[in-house]
Amino acid sequence: MVKVNLGGCVPFVKDADSEVYVKKALDALDVLESGSGAGNDFIGWKHLPSGTPESLIAECEAVRDCWAGKGVDLVVVIGIGGSYLGARCAIEALSHSFAKQLSGKKDAPEVVFAGNNLSEDYLAELMDLVSERNAATVVISKSGTTTEPAVAFRVIKEHIEKTYADASERIVAITDARKGALKTLSTQEGYKTFVVPDNVGGRYSVLTPVGILPIVLAGFDIRAMLAGAREMEKACSERSADNPAVRYAAMRNLLYSILGKKVEILVAYNPKLQYLGEWWKQLFGESEGKELKGIFPASVNFTTDLHSMGQFIQEGERIMFETVVSVASCDRSVVIGSDPQNLDQLNYLAGQHVEHCNAMAQLGTTLAHIDGGVPQIEISVEKLDAYNLGGLFQFFEYACGISAYVLGINPFNQPGVEAYKKNMFALLEKPGYEEQTKAIKERL
Ligand code: PA5
Repeated sequence: MVKVNLGGCVPFVKDADSEVYVKKALDALDVLESGSGAGNDFIGWKHLPSGTPESLIAECEAVRDCWAGKGVDLVVVIGIGGSYLGARCAIEALSHSFAKQLSGKKDAPEVVFAGNNLSEDYLAELMDLVSERNAATVVISKSGTTTEPAVAFRVIKEHIEKTYADASERIVAITDARKGALKTLSTQEGYKTFVVPDNVGGRYSVLTPVGILPIVLAGFDIRAMLAGAREMEKACSERSADNPAVRYAAMRNLLYSILGKKVEILVAYNPKLQYLGEWWKQLFGESEGKELKGIFPASVNFTTDLHSMGQFIQEGERIMFETVVSVASCDRSVVIGSDPQNLDQLNYLAGQHVEHCNAMAQLGTTLAHIDGGVPQIEISVEKLDAYNLGGLFQFFEYACGISAYVLGINPFNQPGVEAYKKNMFALLEKPGYEEQTKAIKERL
């Protein structure tokens, strides 16, 4: 269960303002629930946790089992933005930090990601790895025409076709049900396909096959993830001032609109949650950053970044608040030993768990940052597992929809993403862009 603690905002906000913003968030929840708001043809994500059929999970498991039968030990997941961040977040959060380096038999293939950049070095180095291994690929693109994944797929597809007699069985596509280049190619080549539902946008798609298939292939418990998400589907749709998504959305809008806090920093104290920050930044940044409005989403990993960003957060310009993702218990145990010399002067910690130090660092940082004028929202879960991660996905998606409606923004479009693409196509001299190519070259 995801819980929201707003105690770290109390010194900064007035009760009357809190009441006003909870009311605004409840009104925004009504808009989301009734499907009467802007972008209402993209709210299919709300009921994915309760609406995902067992047959879809079984289909994903059939791909996993088929590839296991072929001895596949490397799966390249190709996609960008909403077509990879959710899966990467889940896999990084649930994997052993050193899975790649550990010896011994692996229970699942290694999952690596491609098509999320245009770096030639990255792709060449990826192909060094792919060439050494027994590989298969999942290519994910709702539109089927996004440049970054299309380039990576062309390279990996060529390798798979040259290397394996069963090439078409080693490529799975996740794309639109009916249209697009990837759908057409999949039909021609007989690739196994999964559908990105029409009513779910990329950044809300982690609990569609876009996230489910890579998570299943990586060996994680998707049923537990959906169960955690189901719990939050229920909690976040209730018209109540206790609704955690309403409370979070209300407070972040209050901090933005009344106190002028224009930056929200998502904080985690476990390096496995780095990609939760990346997923969350896309979710909120692409949903809210429009019409010259929106809170700029940033993320840090503490205590690591206390030694880089800590100074600014403590004493720099007072433009930010923090949202701390707090995990109550850890999985493993490391106890600090005693040292007769005590040169590092750590004997006062002898017998303590490292996580106790982490918890005290978190508490100390929270108090220091509040003293420094940085309001704190705490989002907490019991432990870092598939169940709670599913809950966090559904919670943040609900909170994002509510929050953007409070701000008066359509949470489900991303018109600004096209600007760089138009310039890139003009500069690459894509057919059909002749006039733009001429115009852009005159600017250079
Ligand atoms: O949230 C979004 O809609 C975007 O980030 C898209 O997911 C991203 O641009 C990838 O698009 P596509 O899946 O069409 O390749």
